[in-house]
Amino acid sequence: MDQRPIGVFDSGLGGLTAVRQLRRLLPSEHIIYFGDTARVPYGNRSREILLKYARQDVAFLRRFDPKAVVIACGTVSSNCLKELQEENAIPIVGVVEPAVEQAVQATKNGRVGLIATRASVSSGAYQRLFRRLAPGAEVFSRACPLFVPLVEEGRFQPGDPVIETVAREYLQELREKEIDTLVLGCTHYPLLTEVISGIMGEKVTLVDAGGAAARTVSRWLAEHGALASGGGGAAYYVSDRAADFERLAAIFLQEDLEHAAHQIEIEAD
Ligand code: DGL
Repeated sequence: MDQRPIGVFDSGLGGLTAVRQLRRLLPSEHIIYFGDTARVPYGNRSREILLKYARQDVAFLRRFDPKAVVIACGTVSSNCLKELQEENAIPIVGVVEPAVEQAVQATKNGRVGLIATRASVSSGAYQRLFRRLAPGAEVFSRACPLFVPLVEEGRFQPGDPVIETVAREYLQELREKEIDTLVLGCTHYPLLTEVISGIMGEKVTLVDAGGAAARTVSRWLAEHGALASGGGGAAYYVSDRAADFERLAAIFLQEDLEHAAHQIEIEAD
Protein backbone atom coordinates (compact mmCIF):
# COMPACT_ATOMS: atom_id res chain seq x y z
CA MET A 1 0.00 0.00 0.00
CA ASP A 2 1.17 3.49 -0.76
CA GLN A 3 -1.16 6.36 0.05
CA ARG A 4 0.96 9.00 -1.65
CA PRO A 5 -0.60 10.73 -4.69
CA ILE A 6 0.20 10.26 -8.38
CA GLY A 7 1.44 13.45 -10.05
CA VAL A 8 0.33 14.13 -13.62
CA PHE A 9 1.23 17.08 -15.83
CA ASP A 10 0.74 18.51 -19.29
CA SER A 11 0.82 21.90 -20.95
CA GLY A 12 -2.94 22.27 -20.51
CA LEU A 13 -6.09 20.22 -20.86
CA GLY A 14 -4.54 17.30 -22.75
CA GLY A 15 -3.24 15.40 -19.75
CA LEU A 16 -6.81 15.05 -18.52
CA THR A 17 -7.09 12.20 -21.02
CA ALA A 18 -4.66 10.32 -18.75
CA VAL A 19 -6.45 11.50 -15.61
CA ARG A 20 -9.79 10.26 -16.90
CA GLN A 21 -8.35 6.80 -17.48
CA LEU A 22 -6.46 6.79 -14.16
CA ARG A 23 -9.67 7.68 -12.30
CA ARG A 24 -11.47 4.81 -14.02
CA LEU A 25 -8.75 2.23 -13.41
CA LEU A 26 -7.64 3.38 -9.97
CA PRO A 27 -10.54 5.02 -8.13
CA SER A 28 -8.68 4.80 -4.81
CA GLU A 29 -5.75 6.89 -5.99
CA HIS A 30 -5.30 10.54 -5.25
CA ILE A 31 -4.20 12.51 -8.31
CA ILE A 32 -2.48 15.87 -8.39
CA TYR A 33 -2.78 17.41 -11.85
CA PHE A 34 -0.81 20.35 -13.16
CA GLY A 35 -1.70 22.02 -16.46
CA ASP A 36 0.78 24.67 -17.55
CA THR A 37 -1.94 26.82 -19.10
CA ALA A 38 0.16 30.01 -18.97
CA ARG A 39 2.70 28.50 -21.37
CA VAL A 40 0.58 26.22 -23.57
CA PRO A 41 1.23 25.16 -26.32
CA TYR A 42 4.47 23.26 -25.78
CA GLY A 43 4.36 21.59 -29.17
CA ASN A 44 6.38 24.14 -31.15
CA ARG A 45 9.03 24.83 -28.50
CA SER A 46 12.72 23.98 -28.63
CA ARG A 47 14.10 21.09 -26.60
CA GLU A 48 15.92 23.48 -24.23
CA ILE A 49 12.74 25.36 -23.36
CA LEU A 50 10.77 22.13 -23.02
CA LEU A 51 13.34 20.79 -20.59
CA LYS A 52 13.20 23.98 -18.52
CA TYR A 53 9.38 23.89 -18.36
CA ALA A 54 9.26 20.15 -17.67
CA ARG A 55 11.75 20.45 -14.78
CA GLN A 56 9.62 23.19 -13.23
CA ASP A 57 6.46 21.12 -13.71
CA VAL A 58 8.01 18.08 -12.01
CA ALA A 59 9.46 20.24 -9.20
CA PHE A 60 5.98 21.64 -8.55
CA LEU A 61 4.43 18.15 -8.39
CA ARG A 62 7.20 16.86 -6.15
CA ARG A 63 6.06 19.27 -3.43
CA PHE A 64 3.18 16.79 -2.92
CA ASP A 65 5.57 13.84 -2.43
CA PRO A 66 4.14 11.75 -5.28
CA LYS A 67 4.89 8.02 -5.60
CA ALA A 68 5.08 8.42 -9.39
CA VAL A 69 4.80 11.16 -12.00
CA VAL A 70 3.04 10.70 -15.33
CA ILE A 71 4.27 12.96 -18.11
CA ALA A 72 0.85 13.18 -19.73
CA CYS A 73 2.34 15.11 -22.62
CA GLY A 74 3.66 13.57 -25.82
CA THR A 75 5.90 16.55 -26.45
CA VAL A 76 7.72 16.36 -23.11
CA SER A 77 7.78 12.55 -23.20
CA SER A 78 9.37 12.62 -26.66
CA ASN A 79 11.99 15.22 -25.80
CA CYS A 80 12.80 15.08 -22.06
CA LEU A 81 11.96 11.63 -20.63
CA LYS A 82 15.54 10.48 -20.14
CA GLU A 83 16.64 13.62 -18.28
CA LEU A 84 13.58 13.65 -16.05
CA GLN A 85 14.06 9.98 -15.18
CA GLU A 86 17.75 10.51 -14.40
CA GLU A 87 17.09 13.54 -12.23
CA ASN A 88 14.26 12.09 -10.12
CA ALA A 89 14.41 9.09 -7.81
CA ILE A 90 10.74 8.20 -8.34
CA PRO A 91 9.14 6.48 -11.35
CA ILE A 92 8.58 8.95 -14.19
CA VAL A 93 6.29 7.49 -16.85
CA GLY A 94 6.00 8.97 -20.33
CA VAL A 95 3.34 8.31 -22.97
CA VAL A 96 5.50 7.27 -25.95
CA GLU A 97 6.30 3.69 -24.98
CA PRO A 98 2.80 2.76 -23.74
CA ALA A 99 1.26 4.24 -26.92
CA VAL A 100 3.64 2.49 -29.31
CA GLU A 101 3.23 -0.84 -27.50
CA GLN A 102 -0.54 -0.56 -27.77
CA ALA A 103 -0.36 0.35 -31.46
CA VAL A 104 1.95 -2.58 -32.22
CA GLN A 105 -0.55 -4.90 -30.59
CA ALA A 106 -3.49 -3.31 -32.38
CA THR A 107 -2.27 -3.22 -35.98
CA LYS A 108 -3.12 -6.12 -38.24
CA ASN A 109 -1.72 -4.80 -41.53
CA GLY A 110 1.45 -3.19 -40.07
CA ARG A 111 0.52 0.23 -41.44
CA VAL A 112 0.33 2.76 -38.61
CA GLY A 113 -0.26 6.50 -38.55
CA LEU A 114 1.15 8.88 -35.98
CA ILE A 115 -0.21 12.35 -35.35
CA ALA A 116 1.43 14.54 -32.73
CA THR A 117 2.89 17.98 -32.18
CA ARG A 118 5.74 19.27 -34.32
CA ALA A 119 8.26 18.84 -31.48
CA SER A 120 7.16 15.22 -30.94
CA VAL A 121 7.25 14.27 -34.60
CA SER A 122 10.60 15.95 -35.22
CA SER A 123 12.19 14.35 -32.12
CA GLY A 124 11.72 10.96 -33.85
CA ALA A 125 10.99 9.31 -30.47
CA TYR A 126 7.81 7.52 -31.56
CA GLN A 127 9.32 6.46 -34.89
CA ARG A 128 12.48 5.04 -33.23
CA LEU A 129 10.43 2.96 -30.86
CA PHE A 130 8.28 1.61 -33.69
CA ARG A 131 11.46 0.57 -35.52
CA ARG A 132 12.62 -1.26 -32.38
CA LEU A 133 9.33 -2.94 -31.41
CA ALA A 134 7.92 -3.61 -34.88
CA PRO A 135 10.74 -3.38 -37.44
CA GLY A 136 8.43 -4.46 -40.27
CA ALA A 137 5.78 -1.83 -39.63
CA GLU A 138 5.34 1.18 -41.89
CA VAL A 139 4.78 4.37 -39.92
CA PHE A 140 3.37 7.53 -41.46
CA SER A 141 3.67 10.65 -39.32
CA ARG A 142 1.98 14.01 -39.49
CA ALA A 143 2.35 17.02 -37.19
CA CYS A 144 -0.95 18.78 -36.43
CA PRO A 145 0.11 22.07 -34.81
CA LEU A 146 -3.33 23.73 -34.85
CA PHE A 147 -5.08 20.99 -32.90
CA VAL A 148 -3.81 22.02 -29.46
CA PRO A 149 -4.77 25.73 -29.64
CA LEU A 150 -8.20 24.76 -30.99
CA VAL A 151 -8.78 22.24 -28.21
CA GLU A 152 -7.66 24.79 -25.61
CA GLU A 153 -10.22 27.18 -27.14
CA GLY A 154 -12.92 24.56 -26.62
CA ARG A 155 -13.29 23.92 -30.36
CA PHE A 156 -13.30 20.12 -30.10
CA GLN A 157 -16.94 19.29 -30.68
CA PRO A 158 -17.85 17.28 -33.81
CA GLY A 159 -19.58 19.49 -36.34
CA ASP A 160 -17.59 22.59 -35.37
CA PRO A 161 -16.67 23.92 -38.83
CA VAL A 162 -13.21 25.15 -37.81
CA ILE A 163 -11.95 21.93 -36.26
CA GLU A 164 -13.59 19.80 -38.96
CA THR A 165 -11.84 21.76 -41.73
CA VAL A 166 -8.44 21.69 -40.05
CA ALA A 167 -8.72 17.99 -39.21
CA ARG A 168 -9.76 17.07 -42.75
CA GLU A 169 -6.71 18.83 -44.15
CA TYR A 170 -4.28 17.27 -41.68
CA LEU A 171 -5.66 13.75 -42.03
CA GLN A 172 -6.15 13.66 -45.80
CA GLU A 173 -2.75 12.15 -46.59
CA LEU A 174 -3.08 9.53 -43.84
CA ARG A 175 -6.45 8.48 -45.24
CA GLU A 176 -4.68 7.51 -48.44
CA LYS A 177 -2.08 5.30 -46.70
CA GLU A 178 -4.48 2.52 -45.72
CA ILE A 179 -3.42 2.56 -42.10
CA ASP A 180 -5.47 0.46 -39.69
CA THR A 181 -4.16 2.09 -36.49
CA LEU A 182 -3.58 5.74 -35.66
CA VAL A 183 -1.58 6.86 -32.63
CA LEU A 184 -2.89 10.05 -31.08
CA GLY A 185 0.61 10.94 -29.92
CA CYS A 186 -0.42 14.21 -28.30
CA THR A 187 -2.60 13.88 -25.24
CA HIS A 188 -4.85 16.71 -26.39
CA TYR A 189 -5.98 14.74 -29.43
CA PRO A 190 -8.32 12.23 -27.73
CA LEU A 191 -10.57 15.23 -27.09
CA LEU A 192 -10.98 15.11 -30.87
CA THR A 193 -11.75 11.39 -31.01
CA GLU A 194 -15.15 11.81 -32.62
CA VAL A 195 -13.88 14.33 -35.16
CA ILE A 196 -10.86 12.16 -36.07
CA SER A 197 -12.86 8.93 -36.21
CA GLY A 198 -15.44 10.62 -38.39
CA ILE A 199 -12.72 11.39 -40.93
CA MET A 200 -10.58 8.25 -40.68
CA GLY A 201 -13.52 5.83 -40.52
CA GLU A 202 -14.45 3.35 -37.84
CA LYS A 203 -12.06 0.68 -39.11
CA VAL A 204 -9.04 2.68 -37.99
CA THR A 205 -8.19 1.98 -34.33
CA LEU A 206 -7.24 5.13 -32.42
CA VAL A 207 -4.59 4.79 -29.71
CA ASP A 208 -4.94 7.29 -26.89
CA ALA A 209 -1.39 7.94 -25.59
CA GLY A 210 -2.51 9.30 -22.20
CA GLY A 211 -4.88 6.39 -21.66
CA ALA A 212 -2.13 3.92 -22.58
CA ALA A 213 0.22 5.56 -20.02
CA ALA A 214 -2.50 5.34 -17.36
CA ARG A 215 -2.76 1.58 -17.94
CA THR A 216 1.04 1.23 -17.66
CA VAL A 217 1.05 3.11 -14.33
CA SER A 218 -1.83 1.06 -13.04
CA ARG A 219 0.01 -2.20 -13.85
CA TRP A 220 3.25 -0.92 -12.34
CA LEU A 221 1.62 0.13 -9.06
CA ALA A 222 -0.15 -3.23 -8.76
CA GLU A 223 3.04 -5.19 -9.47
CA HIS A 224 4.97 -3.16 -6.88
CA GLY A 225 2.35 -3.32 -4.13
CA ALA A 226 2.05 0.44 -4.34
CA LEU A 227 -1.71 0.90 -4.85
CA ALA A 228 -3.62 3.16 -2.49
CA SER A 229 -6.69 2.09 -0.53
CA GLY A 230 -9.81 4.01 0.42
CA GLY A 231 -11.46 6.85 -1.46
CA GLY A 232 -9.39 8.64 -4.05
CA GLY A 233 -9.75 12.05 -5.59
CA ALA A 234 -8.10 14.64 -7.75
CA ALA A 235 -6.82 18.16 -7.28
CA TYR A 236 -6.09 20.44 -10.22
CA TYR A 237 -3.50 23.18 -10.51
CA VAL A 238 -2.92 25.54 -13.42
CA SER A 239 -0.54 28.38 -14.15
CA ASP A 240 -3.13 30.78 -15.62
CA ARG A 241 -6.77 31.70 -14.87
CA ALA A 242 -8.49 28.71 -13.28
CA ALA A 243 -12.00 29.48 -14.56
CA ASP A 244 -11.29 28.72 -18.25
CA PHE A 245 -9.63 25.43 -17.38
CA GLU A 246 -12.43 24.37 -15.02
CA ARG A 247 -15.13 24.98 -17.60
CA LEU A 248 -13.48 22.88 -20.33
CA ALA A 249 -12.13 20.27 -17.92
CA ALA A 250 -15.62 19.67 -16.54
CA ILE A 251 -16.98 19.09 -20.08
CA PHE A 252 -14.18 16.73 -20.88
CA LEU A 253 -14.10 14.76 -17.62
CA GLN A 254 -17.89 14.74 -17.59
CA GLU A 255 -17.84 15.46 -13.91
CA ASP A 256 -17.83 18.57 -11.81
CA LEU A 257 -14.32 19.23 -10.64
CA GLU A 258 -14.47 18.11 -7.04
CA HIS A 259 -12.26 20.93 -6.03
CA ALA A 260 -11.94 24.02 -8.12
CA ALA A 261 -8.63 24.35 -9.91
CA HIS A 262 -6.01 26.44 -8.16
CA GLN A 263 -3.78 28.91 -9.94
CA ILE A 264 -0.08 28.75 -9.02
CA GLU A 265 3.11 30.58 -10.00
CA ILE A 266 5.13 28.01 -11.97
CA GLU A 267 8.19 30.14 -12.72
CA ALA A 268 8.90 30.21 -8.97
CA ASP A 269 10.08 26.55 -9.05
N1 DGL B 1 -0.60 17.62 -24.84
C1 DGL B 1 0.78 17.79 -25.11
C2 DGL B 1 1.32 16.70 -25.97
O1 DGL B 1 0.91 15.59 -25.73
C3 DGL B 1 1.24 19.19 -25.39
C4 DGL B 1 0.71 19.84 -26.59
C5 DGL B 1 1.12 21.27 -26.70
O2 DGL B 1 1.11 21.96 -25.68
O3 DGL B 1 1.45 21.69 -27.79
O4 DGL B 1 2.14 16.85 -26.82
